[in-house]
Amino acid sequence: MLAALLLLAPLRLPAEVPGRGFGLAAACFGCHGTDGVSRGAIPSLAGRSERFLLLALGEYRSGASSGTVMNRIARGYSDEELARLAAWFAGRRE
Ligand code: HEC
Repeated sequence: MLAALLLLAPLRLPAEVPGRGFGLAAACFGCHGTDGVSRGAIPSLAGRSERFLLLALGEYRSGASSGTVMNRIARGYSDEELARLAAWFAGRRE
């Protein structure tokens, strides 16, 4: 029984399909607007270049640029997750 469980463990599916960033991106909607289209003072993310988004997120995470909240937020994501977020928002339309 235990052996069977150990055998099955690596087969568990990831919570999210790689390449699809919606689940991650939803955490940003509260401030950056639904789908990254902001209606307020916080910048929109939708349709910005992937390169810009990834650079900005990387700089917030490393502390190279400092914001009010983004440093703390960016630190919560891995390289792969930041790449997925950047790709997802870059693919939205404004
Ligand atoms: C609590 C509100 C809040 C949340 C949640 C939030 N952001 Fe931000 N974001 C901001 C603010 C405010 C700024 C402006 C910089 C600062 O003050 O930190 C910003 C700036 C940015 C910028 C730079 C935009 C530019 O034009 O310079 C990017 C990229 C970004 N956020 C991505 C994200 C992503 C991706 C998420 C979700 C993982 C996210 N943010 C979640 C508030 C938020």
